[in-house]
Amino acid sequence: MKKFLVTGAFGQIGSELVPALQQKYGVENIIAMGNRNIPQDFAGVVEKLELPNFEGLKTLIKKYDVGEIYHMVSLLSAKGEEVPDLAWEVNVQSLKDVLDLAREYKLKVFWPSSIAAFGPTTPRENTPQQTILEPTTMYGVTKVAGELLCQYYHFKYGIDIRSVRYPGLISIEVEPSGGTTDYAAAIYFQAVKNGQYTFYVRPDTTLPMMYMDDAVKGTIQLMETKANKLTIHTSYNFAAMSFQAHEVAEEIQKHMKLKVDYQPDHRQAIADSWPQSIDDSVARKDWGWQHEYDLAKMTERMLSGIKERFK
Ligand code: SER
Repeated sequence: MKKFLVTGAFGQIGSELVPALQQKYGVENIIAMGNRNIPQDFAGVVEKLELPNFEGLKTLIKKYDVGEIYHMVSLLSAKGEEVPDLAWEVNVQSLKDVLDLAREYKLKVFWPSSIAAFGPTTPRENTPQQTILEPTTMYGVTKVAGELLCQYYHFKYGIDIRSVRYPGLISIEVEPSGGTTDYAAAIYFQAVKNGQYTFYVRPDTTLPMMYMDDAVKGTIQLMETKANKLTIHTSYNFAAMSFQAHEVAEEIQKHMKLKVDYQPDHRQAIADSWPQSIDDSVARKDWGWQHEYDLAKMTERMLSGIKERFK
C-alpha cells in the first residue's frame, strides 16, 4: 500500500487528522511530518523536517513510497502579518514544491485554503463559491495564490488536488495560535482553567466556525470522493455554523460560571475583512458534505473534553 504523508502533522488540524487517518488506513501507513511540538509519546511514524525543503520532501516521498500528501503546514493570519516573507515561503513555496513532486511521483494532494482568501470587497453574508478574492492579509494572499496554483496544476498537468476553505476551527487537542479565529477555541480553555476570558474582538464579531471533528470528517470525505464528481479545482467553500463572539460566551455560561470582557486589538480589522457566513452548497452537492456540530453540541463536547484533559 502506498503511504500517506501529512505535513504540519502536529499543528491544530494535523494533530486530529493524523489519528483519523491512522485509524482508517493503519498506523504504519501514515507518515507524520513536523518541525515543532512533536509529542514525546506520539504513536506512529514521525519525520522531522522544516519546510520549504524540496530535496528533503523528495527524499521522504521516495523513502516511504508516498501516494498521497495532506500538505497541512501553514502560518496563520495574525502570525503572517508579523512575518509576511516567511508566510509566503512556508505557505506558497512549499505548496509549489509539493505540486512539482506530485507531477513527478503522481501524488494525490490535499491542501488547505481558508476563509482568509476572501476580503473586504467580498459579499459578507452567505459568501458564494465563486466571488471576489481580494484579501488584505499576507495569509489571505498566500491562500489565493495557492488556490490558483492548485487549479493551474490540475488543468495543466492533470494533478488530482483537492482543497477546502476552512472556517475558524475549534478543537480540544491543540489550542490554535497565530490566527484570528483563535478566540472561539481559546475561550473554552480559559473558561475551564480560569473562569474568565478577555476577547480580542468586539462582542458582535461574527465569523464562520467549525468543530474539528466535522473538519476532519469532511477533509477525508472530500479525498475519498470520485474525481469525476468534483467541479471545483481552486478550493471548496466549507461551512458549519456562524456566531457572534458574545454568543459563544453565553452558550458556555449555560454550563458554568464565566466572566468575559472585550479588548479588541489588531486582529479585529482582520476579522472585519472576512465573511460572516459561507454558502457551501457546491460542496454539499458535489461530495455530500454535511456538518454535525452546531454551537450547542460543540460547546458540550468542548467543555467535557477539556475538563477530562486537564483534570
Ligand atoms: N483560522 C485561521 C486564522 O484565523 C483562518 O483560516 O488565521
